[in-house]
Amino acid sequence: MAKILVIHGPNLNLLGSREPEIYGKATLDKINEQIKTWADDNSITVQIRQSNHEGEIVDYIGKAKDEFDLLLINPAAYTHTSVAIRDAISAVGIPAIEVHLSNIYSREEFRHTSLIAPVCHGQVSGFGVHSYILGLQAALKMIK
Ligand code: DQA
Repeated sequence: MAKILVIHGPNLNLLGSREPEIYGKATLDKINEQIKTWADDNSITVQIRQSNHEGEIVDYIGKAKDEFDLLLINPAAYTHTSVAIRDAISAVGIPAIEVHLSNIYSREEFRHTSLIAPVCHGQVSGFGVHSYILGLQAALKMIK
């Protein structure tokens, strides 16, 4: 069975109460439930991690090498700053997909640059919780 690692970056543990007008009202637990339901329906194994710490995210990616077929990541604020996460994705060579709840291109200018996107297969941005499901659907196509 194909295995996907899902990583949620910093502050995404606060979803539900965090700026709901931008990120929606769903909590991270609810999003994870939807991810797991999608995975069951499509016979995919998913493992889900959330961290507020750049180094921890780098470690999750580094250890994923021989275990996962694909990485789905919402790097959150690290999207715009983290050379370390970008390098980790390049280093392991696992295909990666970047997702965002909000449309980062319609927001502040500093969010328009993703350091992660160039090492990802593609990016989904702006569809709320559905960004994750769209990203997973793309993942399935890539794995099969
Ligand atoms: C985000 C967008 C980022 O710019 C922001 O820092 C986040 C969440 C999103 O999912 O829309 O924390 O990745």
